[in-house]
Amino acid sequence: MLENTGIPTPEDIDSVFPSEERLNQGPIIVIECYKKIPCNPCYTVCHRGGIKPFEDINDRPIVVEENCNGCGLCISKCPGLAIMAVDMTYSETEALVKLPYEFFPMPEPGMVIKGLDREGNFITPVKVVKVFNTKATDRTAVVSVAVGKPFIRQIRNIKVEPVEVNQADDDVIVCRCSDVSLGEIRGLIRKGYTTFDEIKRISRVGMGPCQSKNCGPIVLKEIAVMTGKSLDALALGTYRQPVKSLKLGEIADEAERGHLK
Ligand code: SF4
Ligand code: SF4
Ligand code: FES
Repeated sequence: MLENTGIPTPEDIDSVFPSEERLNQGPIIVIECYKKIPCNPCYTVCHRGGIKPFEDINDRPIVVEENCNGCGLCISKCPGLAIMAVDMTYSETEALVKLPYEFFPMPEPGMVIKGLDREGNFITPVKVVKVFNTKATDRTAVVSVAVGKPFIRQIRNIKVEPVEVNQADDDVIVCRCSDVSLGEIRGLIRKGYTTFDEIKRISRVGMGPCQSKNCGPIVLKEIAVMTGKSLDALALGTYRQPVKSLKLGEIADEAERGHLK
């Protein structure tokens, strides 16, 4: 796939990603420079020994995991936009990812914008934390964004386009039967639970008497908005027919009328 389209496979990506153990220790870079080419600014700019010394200018850069602190200097110097940094210690649910960015308009801290994968597909909303080098002419700008941890192997770019998430709605109860708010649903989607069944199992949304008749469409729409998936591609999964609780007297009345067999 890399040969034909320039897009690496999951195996290619795994081959350059640091180990889980190193990722969990703090910021580090990921270098997606898959081919031998005559280029080395990533190596020459680093004064921490974060990249193994090049013996030949065609060498592929290899990260020295114990020396790299994910500062991002090499990200802004790489002409191939091949480097990003990941900090899994940013928060319990989100990683801080530094990405090279060469488009306009520049994002601004605080914006919630679209996170894209290597094919340019929208995968998850990301929050812009900091923007570096916006005015430098000799370096690429670097944008750090907070991303749900399950997306760190997919995220590779951003699009400065707002995601339609009105945070003022967070307190709205979407599942009245199980008392689940829109904010709780959004939090789970950000953590990487992107099917109705997964969200249902964790939050009990859709498990009440109406069996998702009322809340199901709202949850599916939120998944579609936040992940960029088409609504047609999403399903409610397994559910029972709606139930309504009855008093014993009502059942007795129905029996008297001969409606029960
Ligand atoms: S992120 Fe900083 S420390 Fe790590 S290799 Fe790049 S320049 Fe060196
Ligand atoms: S600067 Fe970028 S393109 Fe050049 S060798 Fe380093 S990672 Fe590869
Ligand atoms: S509103 Fe969610 S199960 Fe009834």
